[in-house]
Amino acid sequence: MRREFIAGNWKMNTVTKEAAALAAAVVKAAEGVSHRVLIAPPYTALHAVLPVISGTNVELGAQNASCELAGAHTGEISVTMLADLGVTVVILGHSERRQIYFETDELINKKIHTVLAAGLEVIFCVGETLDEREAGRAVAVVEEQLKNGLVGVDASQLSRLTLAYEPVWAIGTGKTATPDDADEIHAAARKTVATMYNSELAENLVVQYGGSVKPDNVRELMAKPNIDGALVGGASLSADSFGPIVRFNS
Ligand code: 13P
Repeated sequence: MRREFIAGNWKMNTVTKEAAALAAAVVKAAEGVSHRVLIAPPYTALHAVLPVISGTNVELGAQNASCELAGAHTGEISVTMLADLGVTVVILGHSERRQIYFETDELINKKIHTVLAAGLEVIFCVGETLDEREAGRAVAVVEEQLKNGLVGVDASQLSRLTLAYEPVWAIGTGKTATPDDADEIHAAARKTVATMYNSELAENLVVQYGGSVKPDNVRELMAKPNIDGALVGGASLSADSFGPIVRFNS
């Protein structure tokens, strides 16, 4: 049985005061829900958010991490530092990291290994561009990203990995994949995982959808058999929109 998982990726938004206030509002919205709820503030706000969510059912995520553990890596943040601030889940492979900061499948794979080896969880993002979708390559692109990202990842580690399907053309654009389209990709990704590992692990894999998830489309998305959660950007920045998403089933 897969546990549903709603996550908010705040991206490069909020200073500490705003972050603490938003976190407090999410804590309130998440009261009593039985599925997982996570917020991923920017690095600089993690310290301010931790005491707000401590002892609640809201989990703390980071938006990225270095593939290295320590040393001469100016500007990078290690998993050790993140764990020290209470982070338990790290988002990796986001399309903004891939496209704007040229992160390759190889680097993302290295980061996945680093985060899992540190005992943390990963939200691993995959997704095709509009050109790739229009060329009929959506499934192939997602499969390739998935295979390359999981190279060398042991079956025993897979329970600490959530997959997030985020079609690049749906991020921040107001365009959402139709629930059927998203479900089709999720099913294909699950099939790939079954081929790479086994059908039990594939069946247990939690797959989030991300890309313009809003209060008015979350229910329809979550109703699909292969959509187990949402990775929310813009709508996670206000309690008015993230609250109803967190409480999609109540
Ligand atoms: P939006 O919800 O703003 O489209 O962003 C999705 C996303 O990139 C979450 O990681």
